Amino acid sequence: MIIIPDRILLANLPTKIVKLERLSRELGKNFYVKRDDQTGMELSGNKVRKLEFTVQEALDKNCNYLITWGGVQSNHCRATAAVAAKLGLKACLILRTDKENEEEEIDGNLLLDKLLGAEIHFVSFEDYKARLPEIVEQVSREAKAKGFKPYLIPVGASNGIGAFGYFRGFKEITWQEQEIGVQFDLIASATGSGGTYAGLFLGKKVLNHPAAVYGINVCDDREYFVEVINNILQECLRYTDLQLSYSKDEIMLIDGYVGRGYALSSPAELKFIQKLAQMEGIILDPVYTGKAMYGLTEEIKKGRFKDCRNILFIHTGGLFGLFPQRNMFDFGDTAEEGK
Ligand SMILES: Cc1ncc(COP(=O)(O)O)c(C=O)c1O
Repeated sequence: MIIIPDRILLANLPTKIVKLERLSRELGKNFYVKRDDQTGMELSGNKVRKLEFTVQEALDKNCNYLITWGGVQSNHCRATAAVAAKLGLKACLILRTDKENEEEEIDGNLLLDKLLGAEIHFVSFEDYKARLPEIVEQVSREAKAKGFKPYLIPVGASNGIGAFGYFRGFKEITWQEQEIGVQFDLIASATGSGGTYAGLFLGKKVLNHPAAVYGINVCDDREYFVEVINNILQECLRYTDLQLSYSKDEIMLIDGYVGRGYALSSPAELKFIQKLAQMEGIILDPVYTGKAMYGLTEEIKKGRFKDCRNILFIHTGGLFGLFPQRNMFDFGDTAEEGK
């Protein structure tokens, strides 16, 4: 059996797996959801599984200042801020915004970042794209000058160490399969920076599980993510003595559902979020899980997964990102449909 790095216990695990009865009937499948949106409250979502491993590494290196980065509504940055506060560390977030010179609305994840006491540096899209390493270096230097020992966590905690979060998550799924007496034919989740998928893929390969494991990319495209995920896997394997052989063709993505672009929603995606909320009482977020589950169900309807009976979608959280997008929803439509 593969020996993996130590982790600090942060998440509420195991998360439940529930069957969505009405959606299952509609799709003609047994459709289950793993509630990784319930890994915690402040910590909720997939990021905390990865942070259990990354932050343990930071502690092992005696670091006390977590520097990370992402979009202004990053779930990962909020989870990092929460972990830092819980452990008495400092979090420093480099947040990409198009409102660098205006007041950024203190809402959703950003509100929580502030409440949790994270140090925040807003940077423009242009600077983030062109100068991120330089900015990280500068922030790191300033932290050292103040006597802190920084530890850098890449976007989404999607690196070799972070990926163990979903290697473990995959094992958890296999234990639950035995408990509930179901074997999944297809396991899918949103892909935004690749770490979740890399961990699930490693789990499937190491445990030799028959399920097809798919990521649904919410930005970029299949080719981009195959490279990203492969790099994460290679880094991950360096932490173990495992000789894993796989081909890049085995990295499976459902491409074609980026829609209007990263964090931009289409009316069909928003309608799907509303429909699922009312049908099953499950709230998805517009940036990741809404887009991804919309894509997955569309592909099922088109017959792509006709050989799969038991399908598991991992709800990776993101709820706080819903609130800043409140104006996107058209509740008039829902009222009309209900008549
Ligand atoms: C709520 C949510 N779901 C899914 C993802 C995608 O996971 P990953 O970044 O590991 O691909 C993210 C972050 O990118 C996220 O915040």
